[in-house]
Amino acid sequence: MKKRKLLIDCDPGHDDIMAILMTLAHPEAFELLGITTVAGNNHMRQVTDNLLRTLTYLGRTDIPVAMGSESALILDPEPQDAHGKTGLDGFDFPEPGFLPVPEGAVEFMKNAIMNSTEKVTIAALAPLTNIALLLLAYPEVKEKIEEIVIMGGSVCRGNMLARSEFNIYADPHAAEAVMRSGVRVVIAPLEVCDYCIVNEEDIRYWQNKKTKTAQLCGGLMNFFAGYGRQRGWSEFTVFDLATIMYLLYPERFEGFDGTCHVVPDGAYTRGMTVIDPCEGGHIHTLMKADKAFLNARFREAIDLLDA
Ligand code: RIB
Ligand code: CA
Repeated sequence: MKKRKLLIDCDPGHDDIMAILMTLAHPEAFELLGITTVAGNNHMRQVTDNLLRTLTYLGRTDIPVAMGSESALILDPEPQDAHGKTGLDGFDFPEPGFLPVPEGAVEFMKNAIMNSTEKVTIAALAPLTNIALLLLAYPEVKEKIEEIVIMGGSVCRGNMLARSEFNIYADPHAAEAVMRSGVRVVIAPLEVCDYCIVNEEDIRYWQNKKTKTAQLCGGLMNFFAGYGRQRGWSEFTVFDLATIMYLLYPERFEGFDGTCHVVPDGAYTRGMTVIDPCEGGHIHTLMKADKAFLNARFREAIDLLDA
């Protein structure tokens, strides 16, 4: 597999951290250029603090972190309860051991992309505010972006409204700007995320394993599973992880090409993704994946990080 230069934009967020762990477990597949943060699951400075603490705990203070937008382009942030008061409840983190870089997320991404000798892939795990600002302020980056893999949207599901997923709902105007940009976009909608899960046995395994990454994973996933346990679920969707799994194992996914437009408003429609299959469309939408295979690879990745 050819090594990808990768930028991750996120709002940690339990599932954001799982996606980052999967990335760190595969240095043979990714050269991680940096991680940028944006308002989403919680306020931007809170999710940034969550990321700095996590990377400090993992001993990865070498990874550049850049702070992004504190709000959506037009709408106000709406922090989510599913991630707890801090946005990353369930684990006792150390104080951050380093600071974000001085430049903002958009500048950091622009510089990383334009200075790269190869095209750069972006994994977008949060509202698309930073990505939209990047593409609008610096259109010259477009030809140097391999693809943008987005956890977001849905074909006919919703977790904010009947047909709206949080990352798109939180900043629908930014999402539409990204869909219109002409850059190749791969969407991991709610439908495909349900093939990317952890279960009670995984959580117990990590809680019982007295190693660094397993303890982090066990604590965070045990908290994150609470939302699903209240609803009688025995498997817990790790939404953002689907993006990195796709980049690692695209042959284990099924999808289709088409277009995507975002409804910006409406009591029942804000953030709805209108995905239209068509030959030659520059938006690739993932719909199915090999659940057992992905679950096994995630378990292996956490063991690998503790090896
Ligand atoms: O709808 C799921 C998305 O919203 C994920 O990115 C999760 O982290 C939350 O931000
Ligand atoms: Ca997220």
